[in-house]
Amino acid sequence: MRNFVKLLSFNTFIPFFYPALMLPIDHYRKKAFKKMDFKLGDKVIVPGSGAGHDLTIIPKDVEVVGIDISDVMIGISKIKLKAYGRDKNVVVKKMDAEKLPLGDNSFDKAILSLFLTVVFDPKKAFAEIVRVIKPGGKILVFDHLFRKGELPSIIAKPIDSVLKYSFASVTRNIDEIIEGLPVVIEEVIPGDPVGFVKSFFIVKQ
Ligand SMILES: C[S@@+](CC[C@H](N)C(=O)[O-])C[C@H]1O[C@@H](n2cnc3c(N)ncnc32)[C@H](O)[C@@H]1O
Repeated sequence: MRNFVKLLSFNTFIPFFYPALMLPIDHYRKKAFKKMDFKLGDKVIVPGSGAGHDLTIIPKDVEVVGIDISDVMIGISKIKLKAYGRDKNVVVKKMDAEKLPLGDNSFDKAILSLFLTVVFDPKKAFAEIVRVIKPGGKILVFDHLFRKGELPSIIAKPIDSVLKYSFASVTRNIDEIIEGLPVVIEEVIPGDPVGFVKSFFIVKQ
């Protein structure tokens, strides 16, 4: 029930304006994906796979599981995967990333694009991802998140109080999200020309 408004947003207006909104950062997203060094046979999980953009960027010889709670997003991603000829190596499942019915240590890599700012409880969702990733596995977080010591702008808080219930929160902190989990942030690179989005490369210990 607490996810109701988000679920409504992601099943109605967001799937339609979202792809255009993401176009300007596409070059940075692809650059970050290249650094993930995907290998033949890798098993990759993509929580919040949305309309399937991430799913079409990951190389074809990698086994991919996309996860989303929105039927509309899942429907669009399945059409896109077929059109791109990617429906053989990618499956998309309807699941809540905050409680994954998947085994521990079962994936080599995870891609979390514009997901931790959107999911209702980012700490819970990230802990689930860490649980299903193998030790030594890599996690890419491509998102608008702050670091410890960085403060959101003066207008971010009022914007957040409205946005966070329907779409995305603009004041979340990656260091708080990963606190207490067996992970290390190894590198951070820009995810757009102005530094609003960043790519965080994280490794499970
Ligand atoms: C902003 S979209 C990003 C989609 C995609 N990763 C991209 O960058 O193009 C976030 C997605 O997360 C999904 N989502 C939100 N909460 C979720 C949850 N608890 N479990 C799974 N998916 C969730 C939404 O339905 C939406 O499709």
